[in-house]
Amino acid sequence: MRLLLEQQGDNQTLERIVVRSGKPLQGKIRVCGAKNATLAILSAAIMTDGEVILENVPDISDVRVMAEIIEALGARSTWLGEDTLSIKCSPVMGYEAPYHLVKKLRASNLLLGPLLARFGAARVALPGGCNIGSRPMDLHFKGLIGLGAELRMDRGNVSGRAGRLQGTKIYLDFPSVGATENIMMAAALAEGQTVVENVAKEPEVVDLANFLNAMGAKIRGAGTDVIKIEGVQRFRDQVRYSIIPDRIEAGTFMVAAAATGGDIVVENVIPPHFEPLSAKLREANVLVEERDDSVRVSGAGPLYPINIKTMPYPGFATDMQSQLMSLLSVVPGTSVIVENIFENRFQVAQELRRMGARIKVEGRVAIIEGVAHLQGTQVRATDLRAGAALIIAGLIAEGRTEIQNAHFIDRGYWNLENRLRSLGADIKRE
Ligand code: UD1
Repeated sequence: MRLLLEQQGDNQTLERIVVRSGKPLQGKIRVCGAKNATLAILSAAIMTDGEVILENVPDISDVRVMAEIIEALGARSTWLGEDTLSIKCSPVMGYEAPYHLVKKLRASNLLLGPLLARFGAARVALPGGCNIGSRPMDLHFKGLIGLGAELRMDRGNVSGRAGRLQGTKIYLDFPSVGATENIMMAAALAEGQTVVENVAKEPEVVDLANFLNAMGAKIRGAGTDVIKIEGVQRFRDQVRYSIIPDRIEAGTFMVAAAATGGDIVVENVIPPHFEPLSAKLREANVLVEERDDSVRVSGAGPLYPINIKTMPYPGFATDMQSQLMSLLSVVPGTSVIVENIFENRFQVAQELRRMGARIKVEGRVAIIEGVAHLQGTQVRATDLRAGAALIIAGLIAEGRTEIQNAHFIDRGYWNLENRLRSLGADIKRE
């Protein structure tokens, strides 16, 4: 059995996506539910012992791993349709998230708050660093300790104990998405009021708050700098909830269309969620026409260089930075990207250079001198968004681009090559 799994793991890393430059992308594409909202909401689902039915769930590998982790805790997850997932928890569940699963998914650290709130105990393996930076958890810990949990580090695990958590006032030194979510989930079942200041305002944080409120929580202010939570005793045991569309997936299609000089309509989106991207694309002379729940993107005209600084929402999303870098590699003139969120998120620049891009990286700053053409070659995805960026680069490069480590892309995009093919791209998996 183990041998089989190891072989599957090897095959996974051997999977490649092959892209050839072709026609500008044309047509319509529908966006899936948001990966990051789903991961947080699946963690929150263990806080009720009833059934949670989630709609608009993306069938991507990160979501499958999170479902596997909560199953290891004792929940049952069942797909009821292509994008509908049922989670059933029982009154008695385990509280240990083991390393062999946690190492596959950093976001499993979001289980810490829900486990402490629901069972008064948690043991979650620390996921360690990852390709895009060190990603510490000090703010998560500060919040949970403030709520009354006792936390202990023990051989790569964080173990926690708590009686009923107690509402309190917490100030986050940085508006961390994960810390905001962990604290909000834990405080939802605490006694009394919790006020969290300087919180993350990302749409996925708001979606989690809406889901928790649908379960019976009393959370106000999500989407602003201050969240107020009145703790409740327990949650409802029947909830049905539809996840918001994935703004990063939408943005990836938008940039791919712009890069190929295409003209596409991206459907099932909430345009204000990617306004920072739309604004930058317009600055680069891309036509972006926002409608109620779709957006048309056309990149027919000449493109201009732009400068980008990644920031917490509503600033420009760090998760869109790599894809933009591919596009800017072929825009005449000098563009500058400043990465303010993760210290190690320019690895894709090395791969783009192998394709002929002129990118100089100095610390958190990347300076991109647009070249006339990229050339297809063998490249390697170093993380999820780098993988998406290399596909975009492959769509515009001369000849054949082979992207290794395709499994990174499957973590966050459902069926990406088939969907791009439906827009006219020459792309396949080998
Ligand atoms: C989430 C998203 C990720 C996105 C990121 C920023 C999920 C599952 N992932 O990650 O796709 O790129 O938001 O929008 O939702 N930090 C600390 N101490 C902490 C926590 C964070 O110093 O306790 C730092 C991190 O090192 C990083 C910054 O804060 O430099 C932002 O991290 P955070 O907002 O927490 O990102 P994640 O929740 O990990």
